[in-house]
Amino acid sequence: MYRSHNCGALSAKDIGKTVTLCGWVQKLRDKGFIGWVDLRDRYGVTQLIFDAERTAPELLQAAKELGRETVIKIKGEVIARNNANPNMPTGEIEVLVQELQLLNAAKTPPFTIEDQTDGGEELRAKYRYLDIRRNPVKNNLIFRHKVSMAVRQYLSDQGFIDVETPYLIKSTPEGARDFVVPSRMNPGQFYALPQSPQTFKQLLMVGGMDRYFQIVKCFRDEDLRADRQPEFTQIDCEMAFVEQEDVLHVFEGLTRHLLQEVHGIDIKEFPRMTYAHAMKTYGNDKPDIRFGMEFAELNELAQHRDFNVFNAAALVVGIAVPGANSYTRKEIDALIDWVKRPQVGAKGMVYVRCNEDGTYKSSVDKFYTQEDLAAWAKATGAAAGDLICVLSGDIDATRAQTSALRMELATRLGLRDPKVFAPLWVIDFPLLEKDPETGHFHAMHHPFTAPKPEHLELLDTNPAAVNANAYDLVLNGNEIGGGSIRIHDRDTQSKMLSLLGFSKEDAQAQFGFLMDAFEYGAPPHGGLAFGLDRLVSILGGQETIRDFIAFPKNNAGRDVMIDAPAPLDQEQLEELYLSSSANKQ
Ligand code: AMO
Repeated sequence: MYRSHNCGALSAKDIGKTVTLCGWVQKLRDKGFIGWVDLRDRYGVTQLIFDAERTAPELLQAAKELGRETVIKIKGEVIARNNANPNMPTGEIEVLVQELQLLNAAKTPPFTIEDQTDGGEELRAKYRYLDIRRNPVKNNLIFRHKVSMAVRQYLSDQGFIDVETPYLIKSTPEGARDFVVPSRMNPGQFYALPQSPQTFKQLLMVGGMDRYFQIVKCFRDEDLRADRQPEFTQIDCEMAFVEQEDVLHVFEGLTRHLLQEVHGIDIKEFPRMTYAHAMKTYGNDKPDIRFGMEFAELNELAQHRDFNVFNAAALVVGIAVPGANSYTRKEIDALIDWVKRPQVGAKGMVYVRCNEDGTYKSSVDKFYTQEDLAAWAKATGAAAGDLICVLSGDIDATRAQTSALRMELATRLGLRDPKVFAPLWVIDFPLLEKDPETGHFHAMHHPFTAPKPEHLELLDTNPAAVNANAYDLVLNGNEIGGGSIRIHDRDTQSKMLSLLGFSKEDAQAQFGFLMDAFEYGAPPHGGLAFGLDRLVSILGGQETIRDFIAFPKNNAGRDVMIDAPAPLDQEQLEELYLSSSANKQ
């Protein structure tokens, strides 16, 4: 028997018992005639004690020689501690060691395995298995487990069936590039790894599964950010015989359930907002609604004076920043530099100080009267003590810049409290978006999304004006999930693909299997997918998904621990028909 208890299990009620424990040596304190070892495993830390009076001399000597992270097994008696530590679950006891066995030696770890470590990110990524021993990482993985178990339980209780779909498939367009896998048995041919199981889950609906879910890996070759990994996990779902309302109802229920299970929070409001409103009011289709600073469009109030910057702009937008009239001139200048950074891209920023005495002081006093500025304050909802920030220019760019500014200021002002959760459905997305460079249409969600039934006719006459039966779940300013009601007939699917620029032949070659299936009795269906990594990290109060993934990739898409990706040897390349010499044959 390796152990009778784990390192987090013992308490005062165990005093007097003889126990066997296994774990890692976290810390050793040697006072000559007495020594303590903190023994750690996943469950906690138990203090071991060795002393000259009660411990055999060779055992005391062996204990003193234990290195950090050595794996040991001990047998001993649970005794009361002289100085109890109320901050530790095992803080009232210690184990007086009678036997010690070395299970495995350990080299000195390259960083300290403590909550606050001295290891940099790169070093910890290389030795991720050591980083996982640290509480912050370990607890995140345990938290993820808790969330995914709650998801499985909830969906299973709602009649969803967990079905696995294949990873070696053909391209499923979700807007990213595919990772591809060469086929040895089919020279010169490739599988694509799924960007999502989208088409398979639709085929499961044609297959009559009615309610499907899967916690599933998806693969997307795209630029990485804090909330993106090349392989990530979705909670993927699909339902037959449903309208948008049915889908929203189920997943609102799941979101409420998770917040209740994980944090004991009862979500009172679950608002909905149209895409158009979100863009106009927050400049963003995933607004953080935990705080105000809503956009006020100031075109009417700010144009037709002598200030040409505003006169030439398609959009003038102001936001009221609470309490920010206290910013010094230097701080405001720094803010102006911040909006001018290439990542934000604004040309400049006009500001208005709302003074306590009811007067205004702006950077454009030359052009505007106190009455003008009072009207801006009214429109933005600014009160005395606030600062109004105004950006202007093209509509899309100005909205994006003002949105970036709003989020930055909210972060600085502490308005994005990670313990407050504000979910939101964004609905009524446009079906298509036009690439400004090529003029081609892209599907805003994906090519299988159904137009709103009342907009079907517009598909022929004015496709840009068609809204989709699509929805996103937003949590605290992050897109947690997205989905739609699907097209379930060949004609509409074929029309959609042709709008996206597919020739009849290409459409048939790539999606013929799906359109064929639609001709064998496809039920109306719809669904959605949550990003599990994002969901878990937001629920965990953070925004970097890497911290909630056991073995994540770095920003260059590399796994620095196993050193992947890596070249293949010539023989393997030839076997896969990938080497230039194989290609010549
Ligand atoms: P979508 O592309 O919106 O929809 O993806 C669903 C959710 O997955 C998460 N996500 C990611 N998480 C981490 N890293 C990434 N690279 C990444 N890309 C996406 C996001 C996103 O909201 N098949 C459709 C769903 C459907 O229509 O049912 C789909 O994949 O949280």
